[in-house]
Amino acid sequence: MCGIIGVVGADDAVPTILAGLHALEYRGYDSAGVALLSDGGLWRARAADASQSVRELFALCAEAPSDARTGIGHTRWATHGNPNVPNAHPHLDCTGQLALIHNGIIENYLELKVGLESSGHQFSSVTDSEVLVHLIEVELAQGDGLVEATRRAIAQVRGAFSVAVVSAAEPELIVAARRISPLIVGFGGGAGYLASDIPALIGRCTEVYAVEDDQLVALRPGRFEVTSFDGAEITPVPLEVDWDIEVAEKGGYEDFMTKEIHEQPQAVAATLLDRVHAGHLDLDELSISDEDLAAVTKIFLVGCGSSYHTSMVGKFAIEAWAKLPAEVDIASEFMYRDAIFDDRTLVIGVSQSGETIDTLQAIRRAKAQGAKILAVTNIVGSSMARDADGALYTRAGLEISVASTKTLLAQVTALQILALRLAELRGTMTSAETAEVFASLRELPAKLTELLDRTDQAEVVAKAVAATEHFFFLGRHVGLPVALEGALKLKEISYRRAEGYPAGELKHGPIALIEPGTVVVAVVLQGPLAEKMHSNIAEVKARGATIVAVAEDDDEVVAGLCDYVL
Ligand code: M6R
Repeated sequence: MCGIIGVVGADDAVPTILAGLHALEYRGYDSAGVALLSDGGLWRARAADASQSVRELFALCAEAPSDARTGIGHTRWATHGNPNVPNAHPHLDCTGQLALIHNGIIENYLELKVGLESSGHQFSSVTDSEVLVHLIEVELAQGDGLVEATRRAIAQVRGAFSVAVVSAAEPELIVAARRISPLIVGFGGGAGYLASDIPALIGRCTEVYAVEDDQLVALRPGRFEVTSFDGAEITPVPLEVDWDIEVAEKGGYEDFMTKEIHEQPQAVAATLLDRVHAGHLDLDELSISDEDLAAVTKIFLVGCGSSYHTSMVGKFAIEAWAKLPAEVDIASEFMYRDAIFDDRTLVIGVSQSGETIDTLQAIRRAKAQGAKILAVTNIVGSSMARDADGALYTRAGLEISVASTKTLLAQVTALQILALRLAELRGTMTSAETAEVFASLRELPAKLTELLDRTDQAEVVAKAVAATEHFFFLGRHVGLPVALEGALKLKEISYRRAEGYPAGELKHGPIALIEPGTVVVAVVLQGPLAEKMHSNIAEVKARGATIVAVAEDDDEVVAGLCDYVL
C-alpha cells in the first residue's frame, strides 16, 4: 500500500521525511522517492530497489540540499506501471517546478492524459498519478496560486486519491487533498506535517487532524486551512493519538515482526482488560446501544488478508454463542455482491489500520444502504472508526511489521468479546457457559507466553523444511482460518508457494498436487473434528507428504502420525 509523508517549515525536513518513509515501510512498497524545496529550487530523488528503496534513498539524500525546509516523500506499491524509477513518485510537471505524490487510483487518467499530450505535455511515467501534476501545471497558468490550481485540477479527476503537491514558487506551502485514500495533518515545533498514516508522524506532532473525504488542505509552517473541494471553510476535529516514539522502536529485538510476536500476550491482555472480568463483561464503549445490538438479525464481517481470516473466527463465535446468522466476506468482493441490508443488519469492518480502502468502501456502501456499522480496529480515530456507528478497539499498540501478528490475535479476542456481548443481550448462553468462556479468555495471555517459550521447536521444524518450495496448510472449523493465515504468512515472509485449504475439500482435486517432498501443515483441534483431521493427515501421508502438525499437547494420535508436531 502506498504511503505519503510531507513536512513544511522544518529545519530537519530531510531526516523527518526519511524517518517518515521508514515508518511507512510496514505497509509494503516497491519504490520510494522524495522532493525537497530549498533556495536552490526543487530537488528530487527516487529509488526502485524493492524493499531496499528507502535505504537507497537515505544514501541518495546525502546529496540533498541542506537548507531544505519543505518536502514530500512517498512509498509506492505499483498499480499502473512497473515498479521502476520513472514510475516512482514524486512526479514532476513539464517545468520541473511542481512535484506531486499520490495514493489511490485516478480512474479517468487515460482520457486526461490524451488531452494533456495533445496540448504538448510530456509524460515521463506510465502512471495514472502523473496526469494530476500536469493538470495542476495547466491550472497554475491562470495565475491564482497552487491552492486554487490544485482545487481545479482535482475537480477533473475521478477515483480515489490522497495527494500532496509542492511548488518551487511557494516553498512554504504543501497543498493536499483527499477522496477515499487516508490523509492526516499535524503540527509540532512550528512545522506542519502530513501523512497517510499515524505511525509516520509519531514523535513529531503535538496535534493531529484527520482530513476527510473531499477536503483540501493548505499546510503552512504551524498553520493550515481546510476547505471543501468547493471552497467552503471547514473546522477540523483533532484526533486523539496516545503513542510515543518508544513504541515505534525495536526494543532489542532483531526486527519488528519478532518484537510484535513477543508482544502478543500484552496485546490480548490489553484487549481483554476492563472488558472481560471473572463473572461479567463490561462493554459500554461501543456507541451502538444495547437495544440496537439486541435487535440485530444478521451480521456481515468484512476484512482483507489477515483481517478476513480473523473475521472467519469471529463468525464462528457469533454463530455459536449469539446464535445469529453471520457471513464473512473479503471486503474487495463484498462491494460487488447484492447483499441485503436493513437497519437490523450489523456490518463489522475488521481492519488493523482502519484505513484499508476496500474495507472502507465496503462499510460505506453498507451504511448507505441502512446497515449499522461497527469497526473493529487498532487505530483510534482511523477513517474506519470515524465512518462507523461504533468502534471496538483492539489495543495491540502500534504494529510496524507488514506481517500482522499481535493485531491478529487482538482482533480475534475483540470479536470474541463482541460475540459474548451479543449472546448476553440475546440470552443465548447460560451464565455458567459465559463464565467458562470468560475464564478461558482470561487465561490466554499466560498461555501465549508459554507458547513463546517454545520458539526453539518451531526453529527445528523451519530448518528441516526450509528447502521446500510447496506447502499446503489444512484445517477445519476455526482451524481453517488458522491454516489460511499460516499460508498467507509463509508466502509473505518466506516467498514460498503455500496454499491454505479446508482439509475436507482436499480430496476434491488439489490432492493431486501432494507428492513426496510436499510439506503439509495440519491444524488439528481437539474435539469432534480431531478424528476427521487425523484421516486427512493419513490421506496426505499416504502420498508421501512431510507432515507438520499444529496440535494440542496431549494429541497422541497426531504425535504418532506426523513428522513434526508443534
Ligand atoms: O489494516 P488492515 O487489517 O485492514 O489490513 C488488511 C491486510 O492488508 C492485512 O491484514 C495483511 O493481510 C496482513 N498485514 C498480512 O500479514
